[in-house]
Amino acid sequence: MKLDRLVGKHGRIGRTAARRVIVAGRVRVDGRVEVGISQEVDRFARVELDGECVREGGRRIHVMMHKPAGVVSATRDAEHVTVVDLIDDPDRDELHLVGRLDRSTTGLVLLTNDGNWSKRLMAPEKKVAKVYLVETRDVIPVGAVEEFARGFYFHTEDLTTAPAELELLGERRARLTLHEGRYHQVKRMFHRIGNRVVALHRERVGEIVLPAELAPGGWRYLTKEEVEA
Ligand code: URA
Repeated sequence: MKLDRLVGKHGRIGRTAARRVIVAGRVRVDGRVEVGISQEVDRFARVELDGECVREGGRRIHVMMHKPAGVVSATRDAEHVTVVDLIDDPDRDELHLVGRLDRSTTGLVLLTNDGNWSKRLMAPEKKVAKVYLVETRDVIPVGAVEEFARGFYFHTEDLTTAPAELELLGERRARLTLHEGRYHQVKRMFHRIGNRVVALHRERVGEIVLPAELAPGGWRYLTKEEVEA
């Protein structure tokens, strides 16, 4: 909602008077003076007029989880346990996933009730890095590094995958950094070089790293720094 409309409605002064008080610097959004009458204000922002609360902000929730294998990246599932089932928060039903992992994949999953935050993190133009540890059935040839960097053509979507960084850690072990998130992307990329992923684990999304002390099935709220990164 635009700030003038919100102040007019919740402050019961009407939109015209709301514009006057905003321009005069009497309105604060999350503690900061805001003079933009058309500023979009989401449901989480606390809005004050002359230091009096006009509208209490909602509770923003940002969670990281170490997803165990066998748990589905969904909010509800008739058959399987979901990541949301594992979160003990009174408002957990408001949460949505910021990118999914396959049921067999382990590692970092992010959840939030803040749609603007998840949109920013998922926006294709932001090219946020997703880092995976991969174990494969067969030996990964050195030439794969070049192939992953060049990209693979996916018929279904009619596109070529963006340059991905493959770092070989062992004969059948690698770290893969993607800057996009297509359906089953890691598995499909390895399939294209005639190999097969036998274990997949996500270590990082953007600047948010799965901490070593967070055991499978464990979760915690993100810190302010992690949310802002
Ligand atoms: N790529 C996959 O193939 N699976 C995942 O879970 C994530 C990325």
